[in-house]
Amino acid sequence: MKGLILSGGKGSRLRPLTYTRAKQLVPVANKPVLFYGIEALAAAGVRDIGMVVGDTREEIRAAVGDGSRWNVKVTYIEQDAPRGLAHAVLISEAFLANEPFVMYLGDNLLKTGITPFVEEFVRRRPAAQILLTRVPDPQMFGVAELADGQVVRLVEKPKDPKSDLALVGVYMFGPEVFESVRRITPSVRNELEITDAIQDLIDRGCAVHPHLVDGWWKDTGKLDDMLEANRLILETFDRRVDGAVDADSRVEGKVVVEAGAQIVRSVVRGPTIIGADAKIEQAYVGPFTSIMNNVEIRGSEIEHSIVLEGSVLSDLSNRVIDSLIGRNVRIYRQPLKPSAYRFMLGDNSEVGIRW
Ligand code: G1P
Repeated sequence: MKGLILSGGKGSRLRPLTYTRAKQLVPVANKPVLFYGIEALAAAGVRDIGMVVGDTREEIRAAVGDGSRWNVKVTYIEQDAPRGLAHAVLISEAFLANEPFVMYLGDNLLKTGITPFVEEFVRRRPAAQILLTRVPDPQMFGVAELADGQVVRLVEKPKDPKSDLALVGVYMFGPEVFESVRRITPSVRNELEITDAIQDLIDRGCAVHPHLVDGWWKDTGKLDDMLEANRLILETFDRRVDGAVDADSRVEGKVVVEAGAQIVRSVVRGPTIIGADAKIEQAYVGPFTSIMNNVEIRGSEIEHSIVLEGSVLSDLSNRVIDSLIGRNVRIYRQPLKPSAYRFMLGDNSEVGIRW
């Protein structure tokens, strides 16, 4: 069984962060989303992984390397432009060499991992196995229609969805899929859709098995999903305090404080992670917050947010909530009236706030 991780795409729904960083490398609970996918494949025993990369190839390569950190072998496959998930399969044909494979979208996160799904696929060996989950907004996804537990129809982002069963971004295929990716034509968004290729498998009478996912699943393509994924992962953490906490501070609940971090005259309430060499001073860091390395939070309050490396928040009179703050951002107090803050800022932004 081989693996194929898709790490191209523009990440347009996470701009401006994705102007300067691959969407798959934006961290959830201080770890790039992509790493969770690699770990899930490795845990399922998949050792030979093709990584499809696009414009952000250098950054992905620098972060992932040859895969030895996870005890897997990573082969990079270049996609010249985002031409669709089925196109990614097409250009990976030589790498996949007629073996069955798991395709994993690099910005997806699944609570349960994928091991049971891979085992089921290997045991039953249909032409394809798809994972489905109920969503409130099916028009944003590929949608499956089932009858008697069988997939009868798959439609990519239907305007008028016939069910609320979305295709999760993890698929298992046998080599039968290659004929299908060759037979389909580009969609309205001018991409070769994997959804259409699976429909083609069904039309050709090949077995396509659906599997309902019961644990949570997140496609981290948008801010709210990112924050939710962050929350879900932080909840699974155990408390570990390796950094320094002074006598005037309180660190409550499931909090990870990495080595070199300092908590001074502050309250940190979990689930939360404070990265290495971060400094929290006279501040409140509330639940569901991920503070990355070398961040400073001074005289400010923040919760349910993600702050990337090197950013500084100082003397803010309102609590920052629901925010995703890029690298090296500075947010500081300016005299004039305050109200609530809600940020989605790119790397190296600088914001002065009136109070
Ligand atoms: C892709 C697939 C879609 C699937 C989704 C899961 O959408 O085309 O069928 O439901 O991933 O994350 P995209 O992220 O390309 O819009």
